[in-house]
Formats: sequence, C-alpha cells, structure tokens
Amino acid sequence: MGSVSEKDRGSWGSKIAFIFAASGSAIGLGSIWRFPIMVGTNGGAIFVFAYILAVILIGFTVMLAELTIGRHTQKNPVGAFNSIKPHTPWKAVGYMGVATGVFILSYYSVVAGWALGYLYKTITGVFRGEVSWELSDHVFAHFAANPIEVLICLFIIIGLTTFVISKGVREGIERWSKVLMPLLFALIISLAIRALTLRGAGTGISFYLKPDFAKLNANILFFAVGQAFFSLSLGMGTMMTYGSYISKKDNLVSSAGWVCFSDSLVAFLAGIIIFPTLFATPGINPEGFKAEIGLMFQVLPLIISKIPGGYIFGVLFFMLLLVAALTSTISLLEVPTAFLVDERKWKRRKAAIFIGALSFLLGIPSALSNGGVSFLTRLGVMVKMDLIFGNIMLAVGAFFICIFLAYSWGVSNALKEIASGNKIFKVKPIWVFNIKFLAPFAVITILIFIIGIAR
Ligand code: TRP
Repeated sequence: MGSVSEKDRGSWGSKIAFIFAASGSAIGLGSIWRFPIMVGTNGGAIFVFAYILAVILIGFTVMLAELTIGRHTQKNPVGAFNSIKPHTPWKAVGYMGVATGVFILSYYSVVAGWALGYLYKTITGVFRGEVSWELSDHVFAHFAANPIEVLICLFIIIGLTTFVISKGVREGIERWSKVLMPLLFALIISLAIRALTLRGAGTGISFYLKPDFAKLNANILFFAVGQAFFSLSLGMGTMMTYGSYISKKDNLVSSAGWVCFSDSLVAFLAGIIIFPTLFATPGINPEGFKAEIGLMFQVLPLIISKIPGGYIFGVLFFMLLLVAALTSTISLLEVPTAFLVDERKWKRRKAAIFIGALSFLLGIPSALSNGGVSFLTRLGVMVKMDLIFGNIMLAVGAFFICIFLAYSWGVSNALKEIASGNKIFKVKPIWVFNIKFLAPFAVITILIFIIGIAR
C-alpha cells in the first residue's frame, strides 16, 4: 500500500467509493447464482480450487490491467484502445467488448428478473412454513416456464437499469448500495451459518471443499477461468470504464485486490449456503447430481424457511439480491452507453434507451428457453448464450487486453500509470510475468482446447 501522508487523506474517501462501485459491479448474480451452478456442474471442490487459482493468477492480473488502461485513458473501451494506439485494429477489441456487454446484459437480466419474481413470491407468502424440495423445485420450474411472468420481470429489470443509466443517477444508487451491500453480506453470513448447522451438512461440505484432484481437466479449467472473468466483470471493458473514474492519487493495485477479494468471498459463502442445504435434503446426494440453471432458486427457499423470522428474512434477502443484481446490470449497460455517448455523440438518454431496448429484444429467446417455448428450451438458448458470451467472448477479450497491454502499449508504460498512487508495488515481478506470459498463454491454451473439444 502506498504511503498515506496528511495531504493525501482526502483520497481515501474516493478510493473507498471506487471499491464500492467496482465491487457493486462485480458482486451480483455471478457470485450468488452462477458460481454454485459452475461448482455443481464441474466436479464440486475441484472447481472451487481451480476457481481460486484463476482469480489469483489471472483475474487479478486482468483486473489491474483494465483499471490501469482505464485510468490512463479516461475513456470507454473503444476510446481507450483508440487513444493509446490510434488508427489500429486494436479498437476492434473495444467493439467486441461493447457487443459482448449487450448480450450478457440480455440474459443476465432474465435471471435478475427471476430474483424479482422471487421477491414477489416471498412477499405473497409462497414459501411460508416448511418448504420441501418438491415444492421449491415445482415453484421454480413453473415460474421460469411462464412466458408472461418472465417477460414482465425482464422488462422491469431492463427498464429500471435504463432509467438509472439515462438519468445518470448512478451515484445515488451507489450511495444506497454502500448501506445495502453490507446488509446483504450479513444475511449471507447468517444463511451460511444456518446451512452449516443443518443435520447432514457434512455431505455438502465435502462435496464443496474436498477436492478430488484426479477429476481435474481442461473443461474445469475453462469454466473456472470463465467464471473468474464473469464474476469480476472482466474481459469486456467494464473495469476499464470504472478505472477511468479512479483518481491518480489512488492505489490501483490494492483496489484491484479488494474487489477480487470481496467478490470471491461472497461467491465462497454462496457455496457454503447452497451445497450443505442441497445435500442435506432427503433424496438428493452428490452421486450423479447435475446442477441446473435454477439451482439457487431451488435451494434458497429451503434454507430461508429454516431461519427464525424466515418470512422477513426471505423478503429482505431477495430485495438485497435484486439491488446487487441491479448494480451489475447498471455496469453492463454503462459500457455500451458510454461508447455511444463518447464516440458517436449520442444523447445519454437516447443511447441508454436504445441499448436497453436492444437487450430486451435479445433477452426474449433466453427468457423463453426455460420451459416457456419448447423449441427454445430444446436449443438451450440461455445456456448457450452464457457459454458463448459469458465464457468464450470474455476470455477472448481478456486475452487481447493482456496482449495489448504487454506488447502494444508496453509494460513499462503501464507500470508508470500504476506507480501513480502506489509507490511500492510488492507483487510487481509476478504481475509483469503474469500479464506477459501466464495469463495470455493460459487463456489462449484453454480456449483452443475447448474449441477442439466442441468440434
Ligand atoms: N460481475 C457481475 C456479476 O457477477 C456481472 C457483470 C457485470 C459482468 N458487468 C460485467 C460480467 C461485465 C462480465 C462483464 O454478477
């Protein structure tokens, strides 16, 4: 950490503000909904192990790279590449990021819409009293397959996100989320403690935390790296855009570290809730278990019903989850909007409404692919969208960001930017090695492997 002299004290406020904003983008359905599914479909604890490595070695590396490029250029991704290397094909990486953001926003909002639907269900008392697996599973399947309900929820989520972005009231939201996110964290901790004290929690704990290294394979590595990018909002320029708001006095290295840590902590705790609860349920055991897309929604009602004051607790939990999801959708919409405003000179409101409408339309097939429309369900549209944009495109984007920083802009220029606000960069040699060799090499190898397997 850099030295904090008396006259630098003012920057603490803004550094904390940045960490909250960036954590607000990172912490969301990625950690609470997507991470447990990834664990549940990729071998349990071995995935958790691969994920932690991916965050430390690759996620942190790319996070610092994006923040550095962002603060240096003060621009959206397209503008950022353009200002460091004008008139080169590099800005294509920025365009790719903008497009990826729109696609991720489309299906991410469907899941955020589910959280909204669940808030409504908990309020109206659907999960009052003892909740069995059968009930919970039925409620989810029924809800996700109801085309009208999911489309209304999707519309509301994208509408709210568009409203926030077009009014530029993001700061207001972030001030609120500063109060609300610690509360969400407190609820997650209480649910985790309750889950750990369930009779039969042990099976879930060993599934989640006792790795079987013989299971490790390229697929697991691919999804672990993809999950790291998704959960940390990396690979499409979100953190570049956020980095452009950081003051030159602030420490990029420790900021990146804090965002990685807080996001991973929430993901870790989400798993502590989901797996003990899941496998303490009669008739459900790890052998042959395959997590489905609604895992979180199937499991949460079970544990919430076992907490004293479960009704209030459940309502509060889904409310806060919704806020967490909205701070993420806001960051997703911000990138394409900032692009249209800065580079195409659109009005902010027009840009936000245009991208919002586009992602609503793109979200419709995903929304209807969970039982709503049978051929979309058979195609597995939402799972495929997530595979293509949430894993592959983010990995491709992150690969090019590493290559760009290391070999086009140059590590020494990046280090100059990092040095501002950070006199002693303790892990400098490791980061330099990772950004030049380890991260791009690992990502491209895994991508080639996966494309090989897919053919
Ligand atoms: N990281 C967020 C989450 O975990 C989702 C998200 C926001 C995102 N912005 C992103 C994912 C940019 C990828 C890229 O909920």
